[in-house]
Amino acid sequence: MALLNWKADYCTGNAKIDEDHRALFERVNDFHFAWQQNRDRKDIARVLNRLVEYAEEHFAREEEIMRASGYPGLARHQAIHEALFEQIFVLQGHFEDGRIRIDRDTVDFLRGWLVDHIVGEDMKFAAYVESGDEPAPARQASDIDVV
Ligand SMILES: [Fe+2]
Ligand SMILES: [Fe+2]
Repeated sequence: MALLNWKADYCTGNAKIDEDHRALFERVNDFHFAWQQNRDRKDIARVLNRLVEYAEEHFAREEEIMRASGYPGLARHQAIHEALFEQIFVLQGHFEDGRIRIDRDTVDFLRGWLVDHIVGEDMKFAAYVESGDEPAPARQASDIDVV
């Protein structure tokens, strides 16, 4: 059985972001499956690497969407992405060095790592982007009336 099942509650309403999130679900599930099947370390490292790479691309895409829409929480969200990326980057490094074994806690960590961020943070910015709220345009000197 898959570790993560996509459900309507995870939809942010932004098609591109939802597509990315589904792809991340698949990668976490692939990782879980490889672990369950007792695949060799090289195979597990490969699926973990695919997850790490995709997460990096996805975070960059989200930040680009936030930047383009003038989302005021960009810097905060970016800092969260950095911390999340660091967590799986460290996990990947420790696995490759042989410092950790993948166990149930690792799998549960990855589940929370992905789902909690989608539900807790991505929903907020996606709602902002989808609402079409535009930030106030920066005023230029030529806009200011001279009296
Ligand atoms: Fe996301
Ligand atoms: Fe995010």
